[in-house]
Amino acid sequence: MSPNKVTIQKAEMTDAAVLLDFSKTTFFDFFGPLNEVANMEAYSSVAFTSQKILTELINPDSEFYFAMLDNEVAGYLKLNFNDAQTEFKDENAMEIERIYVSRQHHKKRIGQQLLDFAVETATKKQFEYVWLGVWEHNANAIGFYQHNGFEVFSSHEFFLGDDKQTDLLMKKVLN
Ligand SMILES: CC(C)(COP(=O)(O)OP(=O)(O)OC[C@H]1O[C@@H](n2cnc3c(N)ncnc32)[C@H](O)[C@@H]1OP(=O)(O)O)[C@@H](O)C(=O)NCCC(=O)NCCS
Repeated sequence: MSPNKVTIQKAEMTDAAVLLDFSKTTFFDFFGPLNEVANMEAYSSVAFTSQKILTELINPDSEFYFAMLDNEVAGYLKLNFNDAQTEFKDENAMEIERIYVSRQHHKKRIGQQLLDFAVETATKKQFEYVWLGVWEHNANAIGFYQHNGFEVFSSHEFFLGDDKQTDLLMKKVLN
């Protein structure tokens, strides 16, 4: 077995505190050095609250999954279906809203296992395609998605605090 084989585990309501802590930590670890503190705080104070996480966990059209490595959370995934999608709301599509691996575990194929799980989920549910938004300056994630057959099809504006940023929208059509 691969040394970094993870167990993918669905997050439940009782995991809210762990999920909140992990999502906030990974968000700040990765995007903190690339953005102004005030903008990070402004975004985080809305996106990463107990209330918001609980609302997302209770939504039947959103699913969170942890990648567990040696009983520790090493990554997580957020999938959206139907009206929970942040755009388009296409009932034939699934959005990967978030995929994060903790800093110390990057480049160990943990992101790959999460992405494979996401694509398998969409395939089982017979969706036509999987889509996501990624910051235009996040070259690492863009390369990761391209490596996995995702292609840019559009873009949209996204506000991090008062900083207007551009997200590339990428999709993978399923067979
Ligand atoms: C993007 C992210 C999830 C990738 O996860 P990871 O565990 O580091 O990546 P993996 O080790 O699983 O890489 C899987 C495959 O993609 C390839 N890959 C990864 N990054 C790549 C890049 N920038 N360009 C080309 N290929 C890349 C790897 O070489 C590997 O391919 P192989 O197994 O065929 O050799 C991770 O870097 C992360 O959490 N980044 C910070 C958060 C983030 O940006 N999330 C996305 C927001 S939209």
